[in-house]
Amino acid sequence: MPCNCCEMENNTFGEDEAKANLKDYRKRGPAKQTKLILEAVRSLGLKNAALLDIGGGIGTIHHELLKDVANEATHVDASSAYLKIATEEAKRLGHEAQVKFIHADFTDVAENLRQADVVTLDRVVCCYPNFRALLKAASSKSRTAIALTYPREEWYIKAVMSMMNFFQRLRNDPFRVFVHPVSEMESVLNGEGLRKISTRKLFVWEMSLYQREVSSP
Ligand SMILES: C[S@@+](CC[C@H](N)C(=O)[O-])C[C@H]1O[C@@H](n2cnc3c(N)ncnc32)[C@H](O)[C@@H]1O
Repeated sequence: MPCNCCEMENNTFGEDEAKANLKDYRKRGPAKQTKLILEAVRSLGLKNAALLDIGGGIGTIHHELLKDVANEATHVDASSAYLKIATEEAKRLGHEAQVKFIHADFTDVAENLRQADVVTLDRVVCCYPNFRALLKAASSKSRTAIALTYPREEWYIKAVMSMMNFFQRLRNDPFRVFVHPVSEMESVLNGEGLRKISTRKLFVWEMSLYQREVSSP
C-alpha cells in the first residue's frame, strides 16, 4: 500500500538491514530489548492469544510468541524488505499460515483490523513523528495489553539522536528518529483505558507493559 511513511521506511529499513537482522536473530536469538517485551507478554499468562505486532521488522516477536503464547498474529509493517524476510522466516519455522502480513503505515489501516489480545511495538514509536496517533490506533486494537519499547528520555540518547538526525538532513533523507516524552505517551495510553503495570530499562531502551483496566460491574 503506497504511503509516504512506507516509502521512507523502505529506504531506511531495506533488504541489507533486514538480512543482517535475521542473521543476528538466528545466531543470538532476540535482541535484549525484544527479550523484555517477550518476558512482559509471557508474564500475562495468556494462551492461544491473538497478537498484533506493529512495525515487527523481521518478525522476531511472532516467531517467538507463536511457540507458546499466541496461535495467530498480524504483522503490519511499513517496510516491504522487512516483511519479505519476516515471511520467509515464518515459512521456515512452519508458522506462515498463522501470520497475516500487511504492508502499510499502521495508522492508515488500523480501523480495518480486528482487535488482538496483545499489541506490541518494539522500537517503533521512535521512527514515527505522530506518536499520539500511533499509540491511540494501537490501543484501539488491544483487548488486554500493549508492550512497547522506546528510547529512554536521557540526555545522552537525545544527543545521539540529534546527531543522527543532523546526518539525515545532510543526506537529504527525510527519515528522522524521535525521543518522545514518556509521560505524554503514558497519558495517551491512560486515556485509552490502559495502565502501566511494569517498566524495565536498558542503557538505551525502556520497555513498558500496559494492561487494559477491567471496568467494575
Ligand atoms: C527500528 S525498526 C524495528 C523493527 C523491529 N520491531 C525490531 O525491534 O527489530 C522500526 C520498524 O517499524 C516500522 N514502522 C515504523 N512506523 C510504522 C508505522 N506507522 N506503521 C507500520 N510500521 C512502521 C518500520 O518499517 C520498521 O520495520
